[in-house]
Amino acid sequence: MIKSIIAGVGGYLPEKVLTNFDLEKMVETSDAWIRERTGIRLRHIAADDQTTSSLATKAGEDALKNAGISGEELDLIILATTTPDDTTPATAMRVQAGLGATKAFAFDVQAACSGFMYALSVADKFIKAGTVKTALVIGAETLSRIVDWSDRNTCVLFGDGAGAVVLQAKETEHISTTEEGILDIVLHSDGRLRDLLTTTGGVSRTQTAGFVHMEGREVFRHAVTNLSNVAQEVIDRTGISLSDIDFLVPHQANIRIIEGTAKKLDIDLDKVIITLPEQGNTSAASIPLALYEGIKSQKLKKGQLILLDAMGAGFTWAGALIRL
Ligand code: ACO
Repeated sequence: MIKSIIAGVGGYLPEKVLTNFDLEKMVETSDAWIRERTGIRLRHIAADDQTTSSLATKAGEDALKNAGISGEELDLIILATTTPDDTTPATAMRVQAGLGATKAFAFDVQAACSGFMYALSVADKFIKAGTVKTALVIGAETLSRIVDWSDRNTCVLFGDGAGAVVLQAKETEHISTTEEGILDIVLHSDGRLRDLLTTTGGVSRTQTAGFVHMEGREVFRHAVTNLSNVAQEVIDRTGISLSDIDFLVPHQANIRIIEGTAKKLDIDLDKVIITLPEQGNTSAASIPLALYEGIKSQKLKKGQLILLDAMGAGFTWAGALIRL
């Protein structure tokens, strides 16, 4: 059998920072409201000459360096994003060229805030099938480009950034929860709920990208339920118990969603990686950036069992269990 192991993790956040106090000057809001309702203090914003691909390339370079490999060794690049550089070709093409990954094939995946989990699942399948030995999975966003900066309901929530993970194939007798590797990934979606979190435009519908539109309270309600259910589902499928989990690495949407999910799962907040206060919601980039920060701060260590969960527009939602 073949399994996927995590060989390196990287991240990149643009230098420019937008604080809650900056937002107070742009819309009718307050630092206190934003912190109390969302947990966010600041978010990073791409410079005018930066794009999703330039952020993704930087995160990819970092992940390759941490894995100790070069771009030429990659067989596959999957980029999860909601904010592509071009309508076509895929943003992953610019990243492939930037990383010199001449041997790889590359494509984008779009599943909003669950995008990284969807991309991770696809890469894991290619590796398990024996088609690919080394894959780079990236989540990258310039959400600042599709946020309506006059809409206080949404503009306080989002930020830009990129995170990346190198996966490598490893021969194994069987997938064991006590050994390193991706143990399981569960994906879900429900297209009937697409209007609750969407953009006001799209290439085919309006010939514009549109701006983010969200029914915040409804999204919140679904998020806590779906995130705790999918986490429990992946735990049940792998036959481990909740107490075996060393860390929860959740999608960073809102501190109250993270706290609500952790409470439902009975996971102590000390065992949750939280990057939200300094990053906001970076959509597809949020989970790999949380992994990156967790490793950098030495909370996440080799041998630990970690639970990932994500939920986003679609709705899409996903859970994964990984032994680092
Ligand atoms: N500053 C001040 N007041 C605000 C702001 C703001 N930035 N935004 C909304 N308000 C006002 C509203 O207009 C409303 O005023 P009203 O009562 O006069 O109409 C009041 O605050 C309460 O609004 P609610 O929407 O009920 O506030 P709520 O407590 O639900 O918080 C929030 C809003 C933070 C958006 C919350 O619903 C939420 O987090 N939802 C989840 C959305 C999310 O995280 N989406 C990210 C993408 S999806 C994902 O990643 C899971």
